[in-house]
Amino acid sequence: MDKQLTGRTVFITGSAGVLGSAYVRRMLKAGARVAASDLPGDRADTLKDTHQGNQNFRFYDLDVGDEAAVEDIFKRIFRDGWKPNVVLNNAAITGELLMGAGNPFPDFANTSVNDWERTLRTNLTGAFMVARQMDRDIVGRYPATLVNVASMYGLNGPHHAIYEGMPFKSFSAYSATKAGIHGLTVWLAGYWAQRDATVNTIAPGAVFNEHSEEFQRRVSELIMAGRMAKPDEIADAMLFLCSPQAGYMTGQLVNVDGGFSAW
Ligand SMILES: NC(=O)c1ccc[n+]([C@@H]2O[C@H](COP(=O)([O-])OP(=O)(O)OC[C@H]3O[C@@H](n4cnc5c(N)ncnc54)[C@H](O)[C@@H]3O)[C@@H](O)[C@H]2O)c1
Repeated sequence: MDKQLTGRTVFITGSAGVLGSAYVRRMLKAGARVAASDLPGDRADTLKDTHQGNQNFRFYDLDVGDEAAVEDIFKRIFRDGWKPNVVLNNAAITGELLMGAGNPFPDFANTSVNDWERTLRTNLTGAFMVARQMDRDIVGRYPATLVNVASMYGLNGPHHAIYEGMPFKSFSAYSATKAGIHGLTVWLAGYWAQRDATVNTIAPGAVFNEHSEEFQRRVSELIMAGRMAKPDEIADAMLFLCSPQAGYMTGQLVNVDGGFSAW
């Protein structure tokens, strides 16, 4: 079980975040080579420091909204001698990222087109560009799989009241992109089916990341499991989707949300 990913080379976008860094850790432990990527910055530096010296870890600066950079990413990895056969579209503008950057959370009526489009550019157009590059550089050349990351807020609406008085909020563009990304999955699943490539969506639930006790209480009431997820619990499901054991799955949406979507 532990070396489930031996022979797999996993490319991850947004890998320095809460879940991305858990995926990196879990994939390395399972025997994968990990080509991690993210925007440059403190979080990326921390990730690099954590895995420094591990032969199975490499890091690439990548803004998924930068078309030319995305067009070059697999070529950079190939030049370094690795061939990614698993790709994770994980990068996103999230509420916590915006809170960390000191962004205000305007109400819906005051949401600007700029804010909306910035989220679309990263969360949806970025995922499209990575998938398109995978189509150009990988699909059909050797077997591969793509996992797109959605959210419990892609197919179910948030209970807005739980965010009252909180320093972060759920925001409309986030939900729209997380619903849209599964559309990309099902479209690609059929498109790639004859070329030995599979594509699935994972929809994580609410992951604990130093939230206040009050927020934990409010959100946990909406979750069958009665608590938030640990990053490793999402990483375990992600590991399965990246493994040969998921070889007969394509076009699927896997909710890992403690039952949030099942009431
Ligand atoms: N944490 C949760 O509760 C939760 C729940 C559901 C879904 N998700 C999804 O899981 C994924 C990871 O979330 P997380 O909790 O680790 O969030 P996070 O905010 O900690 O990490 C997101 C990462 O994406 C990176 N990123 C942002 N813009 C980018 C860009 N233009 N190019 C490249 N990288 C960029 C950030 O630098 C960051 O490292 C996201 O797609 C998120 O929507 C998270």
